[in-house]
Amino acid sequence: MDTDLNDEKMLPEAIITKLQDTAKEWAQIQLIYESALKQVNTKIEILNNEFTMVHKYNPIEHVTSRIKSPESIVKKLKHNDKDVTMDNIVMCLNDVAGIRIVCSFTSDIYKIADMLAKQGDITVLKIKDYIANPKPNGYKSYHMIVSVPVYLSGGAVDAKVEIQIRTIAMDFWASLEHKIYYKYEGNAPGNISRELKECADLAAFLDAKMLAINEEINGVSEEQTEIVYTSEEAAEEQTEEKIKEEEPDDMASRLKKFFSINQRKRRSV
Ligand code: GTP
Ligand code: MG
Repeated sequence: MDTDLNDEKMLPEAIITKLQDTAKEWAQIQLIYESALKQVNTKIEILNNEFTMVHKYNPIEHVTSRIKSPESIVKKLKHNDKDVTMDNIVMCLNDVAGIRIVCSFTSDIYKIADMLAKQGDITVLKIKDYIANPKPNGYKSYHMIVSVPVYLSGGAVDAKVEIQIRTIAMDFWASLEHKIYYKYEGNAPGNISRELKECADLAAFLDAKMLAINEEINGVSEEQTEIVYTSEEAAEEQTEEKIKEEEPDDMASRLKKFFSINQRKRRSV
């Protein structure tokens, strides 16, 4: 993984040592990225659980994550005219660690992205909103490159993670397009590309239609439960509704007082 290894004057022992060092360095880098993935995956799981508790539905259908394979790393660095060095892997590549979040509705995508971006230890480095600005081939997805600290015994290391957030329909389209792209090595026949673009438009239509139906159902179910109450009953009902519809933000501020260790310490002194 290092250009020094191409040096023909290098002794075999030196090559072995170099390879061992490289393998060790790669294992350490992998450990950092795997830890970063674990942290972000846990954050996503917590947000999904909280959202489910507050709003009675889970915005996330499924989450997948992966570390880029060494073959893909080498291919991408070479494609970008970069030497294959550990420095370049960490500096030049944003997607060594990648997470894909698949949601039911487009509106959930922005909610999840916002909730993640607001977290104190997540730094958003880059955003590409291919939902607001789809690619010419029809690709839609919301991409974030974030940095998260990974705490080691000697201090924290910031690692980049690529987060792709999309709906089920966008994901279905992207996986088919990906297969076709590889099959034709990026040069798919015109009719296939046109049909794919048509499918992307159909997927976008489906997303919009499903969101509208979902919103209508929620509206209808609220209307159906509208009953005439006495003023006391209405007040009680309103309080209950308030608890049910509590925004996650409110839940956090309300719970902070129970979970603030410093406050408790201060009280016990
Ligand atoms: P790479 O595409 O990773 O080289 O970097 P980039 O800087 O162009 O990033 P971008 O955010 O555009 O894309 C990142 C990732 O999104 C890609 O590696 C793919 O996984 C996915 N992606 C982007 N464009 C497409 C597309 O047209 N089709 C499909 N199927 N996936 C795409
Ligand atoms: Mg990529």
